[in-house]
Amino acid sequence: MSQEIILTGITPSGTPHLGNYVGAIRPSIANSKRDNVACFYFLSDYHALIKNQDPERLKQSTREIAATWIALGLDTNKAIFYRQSDIHEIPELTWILTCMTAKGLMNRAHAYKAKVADNEEKRSKDQDKGITMGLFCYPILMAADILMFRANKIPVGKDQIQHIEMARDIAARFNHTYGDLLTLPEPLVDEDSAILKGLDGRKMSKSYNNTIPLFGPEKQLRKMIMKIKTDSSEPGEPKTTENNTLFDIYRAFAQPEQVEEIRKRYAEGIAWGEMKQIVFECINEHLAEPRKYYHELLEHPGDIEDILTQGAAKARAISKPFLDTIRKAVGLVPIQ
Ligand code: TRP
Repeated sequence: MSQEIILTGITPSGTPHLGNYVGAIRPSIANSKRDNVACFYFLSDYHALIKNQDPERLKQSTREIAATWIALGLDTNKAIFYRQSDIHEIPELTWILTCMTAKGLMNRAHAYKAKVADNEEKRSKDQDKGITMGLFCYPILMAADILMFRANKIPVGKDQIQHIEMARDIAARFNHTYGDLLTLPEPLVDEDSAILKGLDGRKMSKSYNNTIPLFGPEKQLRKMIMKIKTDSSEPGEPKTTENNTLFDIYRAFAQPEQVEEIRKRYAEGIAWGEMKQIVFECINEHLAEPRKYYHELLEHPGDIEDILTQGAAKARAISKPFLDTIRKAVGLVPIQ
């Protein structure tokens, strides 16, 4: 089999939380340590522009998310870690792919359809109200990210599978028209990668407002963990670990032996207050070092910038010659 090329974009929006760490950052860093894989991880700041038109917020989020990945141990000598907007070949490929994309395909994109449905529900005169071409064409930009580096495995959440299928469709049409240059990507859906629950027991997500920030101060971490919803069972009353938010969060951070120990303590009726303290200590221990490193990085933004600049140079060493090949294939060549 050909080499695995794993690629994923991280949209710089908001501040990273424990759910991002467990669901995306940790497995991505683990993947980057495997042999025989090439990993491309990038900050999808062009994608961020679709939703965020506040330059300060974009800058800050980009800085924080870059620092987060570095602080958590991404080996930027092994994985190619870069900022999407540093790769000037991406928007160029996006246009070439746009000319290979049926408008009808984009009409079917979930994010766009949801907005239209929303407008219809509100009985808006214009069903495209508030929808930019950025939002509409978002899957084409994403296809360019993927196809540029001939990535074959794309780790995504279920909501993004459709976008990978669209990238395949677009690539297939390109290959049919111009010759077999593009690699068709596949989604890599990690079924057992933990979906961390939030304060209220639903999936931890910015949109539910139930997140615990990854690198907030220790005090805040403790306070948030104390807020996690529990039932009214008393200390000494046996408790079930099934569907228990505190237990699930603990399991995402603790060693298997520790988890078994706590399972026994549940049966014996551990008090919720004590369990919360245990969860806090476990997570805090896990995050103390990276948190320190994270804050050091934010104090030296030049170090973050250097890492991203080096990443961009490595990425462009691939994207430049590949885009040249593509330009030639479509007939964008000097007159001879
Ligand atoms: N759209 C993805 C998200 O919002 C981010 C992203 C951009 C991406 N380009 C990508 C993911 C390419 C995988 C591959 O989460």
